[in-house]
Amino acid sequence: MTRYDSPRVALLHGPNLGMLGRRPSQHYGQFSLFDLERQVQAWGAERGIRVGCFQSDHEGAFLEHIHGLAGMIDGAIVNPGAWTHYQWSIRDALEALGAPFVEVHISDVEARGEAEPHRRVSVVRDLALTAIWGRGLDGYRDALDRLAREFA
Ligand code: DQA
Repeated sequence: MTRYDSPRVALLHGPNLGMLGRRPSQHYGQFSLFDLERQVQAWGAERGIRVGCFQSDHEGAFLEHIHGLAGMIDGAIVNPGAWTHYQWSIRDALEALGAPFVEVHISDVEARGEAEPHRRVSVVRDLALTAIWGRGLDGYRDALDRLAREFA
């Protein structure tokens, strides 16, 4: 495929992820969403990928944002937060969007699932290229690398 401009990736965060920095640090570290977004944009720039960022605590706003991305992006990195575990409307929106995406979780949802089994459930996983969890910020760099392979 011939590319004439740099790939565009949407970095999407669901509920409570705007509170990073105030959430339990054993799971989420101490960085803010602002820190995370700037870091992912910097990693994107190193890879020739433009990263646009969006976070919402409101399901409708999140859905409408995804709808508006149709035809505008080459891929996405999605951390749907708690919606991951039950919110079928988010799944439907991502399916309709049709762009390749990586599901990312900062915390180790598999390990946390021992005490909180719902964290092991993801309603978007089978749509995603891959899912990454428990790697903190580094998981987002891995997600960019996975998408970069997709765009190559
Ligand atoms: C999360 C994990 C979810 O279980 C949780 O509800 C979140 C964040 C993560 O990044 O580890 O809000 O998606």
